[in-house]
Amino acid sequence: MTIVAPDQAVLSRAPRLLVRPPIRIALLGLGQVGGAIATIAASPASGGGTFLIASTLVRDLQRPRSIDAGRLGLTASYGEPLRSKPDVLVEVLGGVEPARTLVLSALHSGIPVVTANKSLLAACGDELFAAAAAARVPLLYEASVLAGVPFLGTFARRPLASSAITGLRGIVNGTSNFIVSRMAHDRSGFDEALAAAQRAGYAEPDPAKDINGDDAVEKLCVLLRHFAGFSVKPSQIDHAGINGIDLADIAHARAFGGAVRPIVVADWAGDCPSAYAGPAYVSDGHPLCRIDGVQNAIGLTTRSSGELFFSGPGAGPAVTASTVLDDVIEAAAGSGGAIEAARPVTVSGLADAGWFLRISSSTLAESDAPALLSSLGVRLQRASHVDARAGEHSQWLLTHPCSRAHLDAALELLTSRTCCRHWCLPALD
Ligand SMILES: NC(=O)c1ccc[n+]([C@@H]2O[C@H](COP(=O)([O-])OP(=O)(O)OC[C@H]3O[C@@H](n4cnc5c(N)ncnc54)[C@H](OP(=O)(O)O)[C@@H]3O)[C@@H](O)[C@H]2O)c1
Repeated sequence: MTIVAPDQAVLSRAPRLLVRPPIRIALLGLGQVGGAIATIAASPASGGGTFLIASTLVRDLQRPRSIDAGRLGLTASYGEPLRSKPDVLVEVLGGVEPARTLVLSALHSGIPVVTANKSLLAACGDELFAAAAAARVPLLYEASVLAGVPFLGTFARRPLASSAITGLRGIVNGTSNFIVSRMAHDRSGFDEALAAAQRAGYAEPDPAKDINGDDAVEKLCVLLRHFAGFSVKPSQIDHAGINGIDLADIAHARAFGGAVRPIVVADWAGDCPSAYAGPAYVSDGHPLCRIDGVQNAIGLTTRSSGELFFSGPGAGPAVTASTVLDDVIEAAAGSGGAIEAARPVTVSGLADAGWFLRISSSTLAESDAPALLSSLGVRLQRASHVDARAGEHSQWLLTHPCSRAHLDAALELLTSRTCCRHWCLPALD
């Protein structure tokens, strides 16, 4: 692992601290991110004595560690981190419990918290931010989404800019983007591309949350709270995994001039916010079409400034650790105080979009689907030739924007008349 530590000049630009350095950190977790935090914090290049890790919580004290844990106050006791009287508690355990209980105890004790844990924020955001507001202490989470592209804090400090944002489109899961990019470049199947992601260290041994879209949905919940002030649970968001994507889908998306990408999308300009996380057809004119491999990106739709676009490495222990430590400095300076309580909302799926369709049946003729869909008012941009493989005929279509309800009604009629099956992705222009 390459650790890039901030230099002295960077730290001299830090905000004025409310505590006398070194900043005492109680570190929850010494895995990939926690290990990189400990390495950077101990590095002379990080400002010489800026950070002191007073206590480090792990699950297994006997586990061999790649870093020297001798001076990190290693403990498996949940009470120890707070007993070490930290200035800031850093939570990089992952998951919901015991992270929730330990973060709440810190906040109730008036100790600022920094977390990189989107699962925790998505599941318990209301409770945690209420506790932070009641105690008037910061709860910072820049590393929870696009950890290597610090942008959330900028908008937290700029309420006017933030309130002008009415939607977002992004690629927030590098593993799934690597897989679909690999399928497109190497024409490798899904399993082969996943194995390549695992060999390169981009996918966990259990990559289920990346592949089924859960990781992206949790990040979308964090983003909706941050930018729109909505309290949304992962179960409210329409989402799909990338495991239904076929090599032929990717080839036909390319033939139509675009690409398949694992995206998150949300719009909240009207009364009813809509959101989706999952694969989509992205046309080549859209900036997300060029975000390849493990890169992440987010485009924010604004009322007055068009689209603001941020891209870069989405994760990785070193960039995540740097972002977490920047949050620690902000928290120790008292920045990033209480945020307003988020509003529970009902979220609909995408209502109006273009659609990328795969229609399959054993008897599909070239004009069946285009003719019927057009006659029902679903206007087509592109239609492929029928591809007859392994006894099944498939055809790919790209529609102009139409409502999901209209599309579903037309597809139902098509299915009943031709006994076909269909698979459908939203299309971004
Ligand atoms: N990895 C990244 O690039 C990245 C990027 C952005 C955000 N994040 C977020 O950062 C967090 C940590 O990720 P990671 O990759 O560092 O995870 P990880 O490698 O699995 O490390 C988790 C650490 O937490 C400890 N831990 C877990 N459950 C515990 C429990 N019940 N009691 C005590 N200790 C426990 C583990 O202890 P042992 O060592 O004893 O097992 C381990 O040290 C997650 O929320 C993740 O989503 C990660």
